[in-house]
Amino acid sequence: MSRTAVAVAHPNIALAKYWGKRAGAGNFPAVPSLSVTLAGLATTTRVALLDDLTEDRLTLNGEPADARALARATALLDRVRRAAGTSARASIESTNDFPTSSGLASSASGFAALAVAAARAAGLDWGAARTSDLARRSSASAARSLFGGFAELEAGEENAGDDVVLSALPVAPSDHLPMRVLVCVATEGAKAIGSTEGMKATAQSSPYHDAWLREGPRIHGELKAALLARDFEAVGTLAERSALAMHANAIAAGMVYWSGVTIEALAAVRALRARGTAAFATIDAGPHVKVIVRPEDAALAGTWMRAVPGVLRVIECEPGEGARIIGDSEQANGGAP
Ligand code: DP6
Repeated sequence: MSRTAVAVAHPNIALAKYWGKRAGAGNFPAVPSLSVTLAGLATTTRVALLDDLTEDRLTLNGEPADARALARATALLDRVRRAAGTSARASIESTNDFPTSSGLASSASGFAALAVAAARAAGLDWGAARTSDLARRSSASAARSLFGGFAELEAGEENAGDDVVLSALPVAPSDHLPMRVLVCVATEGAKAIGSTEGMKATAQSSPYHDAWLREGPRIHGELKAALLARDFEAVGTLAERSALAMHANAIAAGMVYWSGVTIEALAAVRALRARGTAAFATIDAGPHVKVIVRPEDAALAGTWMRAVPGVLRVIECEPGEGARIIGDSEQANGGAP
């Protein structure tokens, strides 16, 4: 017996950043975050649940995944198996059409696609909210990729306990505030320090972490209000502030995700803004600067950013759809797919 489901999910870029976790199990964020889901980049994941497999298998971009990635996938699959009352192991094939683990939010789209495909393959009739909670347990930013357009994830309670459900919520559809996000690719390689590890180190040794825990929610509240009011400039200003505050906190703990290209690209965004174009920068746990602009400014800003030394290419993304199933099937004969 085999049941297969294929899902596609897009990365999301946090405008108000999540950085830091609540104490205790369950991967609950310490600050609320708000993101835009992007259409230009995608993860496609195929999950086949097979009765004759003895352990989960995972390939990422056609290569067998390392033990750590496989363990994270198995943890998600174990939750699905418990809920569905099955012991079938999974054969998982996941491909990204953009660099993996380099701060381009591949864990967000990766775990969103895996959660959607695994739940469907197991026959669980879970809606987006329940599946978002499942994705959050693996990678909190993934909870937001279940939804298209703009989505938020509230902070969790301290020591909430594993049975508490926390899903991302849709805030506004993709056409609510016209924007483009220009991803300025600074390296095709994997990042040195994962977000989970970086957050842990920041909480342990940044002297500014308490200030961030106060500032993050404040920026989130203001940014959400600006988004709902369709105030593009305020959204951009607050997004840049959120990213810089997050990185100031991380850098103070020695977690430097930036390269020289990041600094050059950030300076270029500010120079573009000084010339009168409403362009704002955001940066995640990697060296790539993402530029937030109005659609009519995307061509000019793209040309501008491509000229920055070290920027390898610029990917233009528009707000996109949430994670979704693109195919499923059930076969009585089983066997490896
Ligand atoms: C900088 O969701 O990757 O992209 O929950 O530990 O897997 P884990 O962290 P992850 O962190 C994302 C951090 C960020 C900001 C954001 O997306 O909000």
